[in-house]
Amino acid sequence: MPHPPALTSTLALSVLFLFLLSSTSQAHNITRILAKHPELSSFNHYLTLTHLATEINRRQTITVLAIDNAAMSSLLSKGLSVYTIKNVLSLHVLVDYFGAKKLHQITHGTTLASSMFQATGAAAGTSGYVNITNLKGGKVGFGAEDNDGKLNSFYVKSVQEMPYNISVLQISQVLTSAEAEAPTAGPSQLNLTAILSKQGCKAFADLLISSGADTTFETNIDGGLTVFCPTDAVINGFLPKYKNLTTSQKVSLLLYHGIPVYQSLQMLKSNNGLVNTLATDKANKFDFTVQNDGEIVSLETEVVTAKITGTLIDEEPLVIYKVNKVLQPTELFKVKTASAPKEVAEGPDDSADAPGSDDSEDQTADSDKNGVAGLDGGRLGMVVLSLCAGVLLM
Ligand SMILES: *[C@@H]1O[C@H](CO)[C@@H](O)[C@H](O)[C@H]1NC(C)=O
Ligand SMILES: *[C@@H]1O[C@H](CO)[C@@H](O)[C@H](O)[C@H]1NC(C)=O
Ligand SMILES: *[C@@H]1O[C@H](CO)[C@@H](O)[C@H](O)[C@H]1NC(C)=O
Ligand SMILES: *[C@@H]1O[C@H](CO)[C@@H](O)[C@H](O)[C@H]1NC(C)=O
Ligand SMILES: *[C@@H]1O[C@H](CO)[C@@H](O)[C@H](O)[C@H]1NC(C)=O
Repeated sequence: MPHPPALTSTLALSVLFLFLLSSTSQAHNITRILAKHPELSSFNHYLTLTHLATEINRRQTITVLAIDNAAMSSLLSKGLSVYTIKNVLSLHVLVDYFGAKKLHQITHGTTLASSMFQATGAAAGTSGYVNITNLKGGKVGFGAEDNDGKLNSFYVKSVQEMPYNISVLQISQVLTSAEAEAPTAGPSQLNLTAILSKQGCKAFADLLISSGADTTFETNIDGGLTVFCPTDAVINGFLPKYKNLTTSQKVSLLLYHGIPVYQSLQMLKSNNGLVNTLATDKANKFDFTVQNDGEIVSLETEVVTAKITGTLIDEEPLVIYKVNKVLQPTELFKVKTASAPKEVAEGPDDSADAPGSDDSEDQTADSDKNGVAGLDGGRLGMVVLSLCAGVLLM
C-alpha cells in the first residue's frame, strides 16, 4: 500500500503556505485574539483542534462566545468525541455581530441568533439557534433554543471587539444542547468510496479500490483532504489510456486527484497557483495549477485543463468536487504542444458539463487552450499549497 508521500517532504513548503495564507487579506485571527487570555486557553485549543478557528477567521461578521477553562473542563468531562465537541463549540459561534453594547440593547429584550452549528446543517429544526435575553439588573442570559427555554449561561465580559468583523464575548457556562451533544460520525468514519459511488463517481471509486489507492485517501481525511473526482462518463472514456499504465503509474494517477489539505471552493477561488497532490513525493512533482476565472475554477496540468463542475460533499476537513476531465500529470502523459494561437473567443465552455463521450474529445481542444493562454496568469500569483495533515492539529 502506498504511504501518503506528501507528508514529510513538504513540511518546508507548508511553512511557506502558512506564511502566504497569513499574508492574505484575513481581517482577524481568533487564535491570536484568545492567546492573550490564558483563562480561555482550553477553548482556544479546541477551536484549533476542531478546525473551527479556520472557519471563524474566514467569516466576515462573527461573534464568538468563549468559555473559560473551568467551563471547558466540565464539557470535556462528558467524554464526547472531538467531532461532537466541534458541534458543541460551533453553537458558540454566532454568525452575526454582537458587541457588548448591542447585547444590552436587543429589541424587545430577546432574540434568537443563528450559530455556526445551525449553518453546518447538522442541527435539525430550530436547534442551532441561541436565545439571547436581557434579564433584570443588566444581566444577559444565553441558552440553546433546544434547551426548553432555559438560559443556562450568562454574559461575563467583552474579550475583544472589532466592529463589525469579530466580537469575542465571554459567557459563564457551555450552552447546554442535546442536539449538539448527540454522537456524531467523525469524518474518518465517512466511507469515501461509498460517498463517491452514490454521487456519480462510482467508476473513480472502483479504480481507487482496485488499485489500493483508497487507503491513502482515507488516511488523509482527518488532517484535511480535497478530492477531485472525474465523473463516470469521463472515467469510462479514459479507461483505454488508464489500462496502458503500469500498476504504480495507476496509483500515482489516482493520488494525483487528491490534495492533502482542505480547500473550500471559496479558498480555491481566492488562491491561484500550484498545488501539491497526494502523488507528490518531491517538490514540483505531480503538482498542478489552480486557475480561476470568475466563478469557474480550473485545474491545469500541462496536458489537460479540467473544470470543477460540482461539489459532492463539503464538511471540513473533507471536501469532494466533481471535475469534467481526468487530471493527467506531465510525469505520465505527453505535454500537448501548443498549436498556432487561435483567435478564438473562448466563451464559457458549456460542453464542460455535458456528460458523455465528448468529454474525452474535448480534452484536445482544451489542452490547446491551456498551452496558449492558460499559462500566462497562472504562474504569476503563485502560491504553493502544501499543508501536511498534521500541521493544523499541532
Ligand atoms: C493565527 O495566530 C496564530 C498564533 O499567533 C498563528 O500560529 C497562526 O498561524 C495564525 N493564523 C493565521 C491564519 O494567520
Ligand atoms: C428566549 O427565552 C426566554 C426564556 O425562556 C423566552 O421568554 C423568550 O421568549 C425566548 N426568546 C425568543 C426570541 O424565543
Ligand atoms: C474589518 O475588516 C476589514 C477588512 O476585511 C478591515 O479593513 C477593517 O479595518 C476591520 N475592522 C476592524 C475594526 O478591525
Ligand atoms: C465502504 O463502502 C464500500 C462500498 O462502496 C464497501 O465495499 C467497503 O467495505 C466500505 N468500507 C468500509 C471501511 O466500511
Ligand atoms: C497504449 O500504449 C501503446 C504502446 O505504447 C500505444 O501504441 C497506444 O496508443 C496506447 N493506447 C492508448 C489508448 O493510449
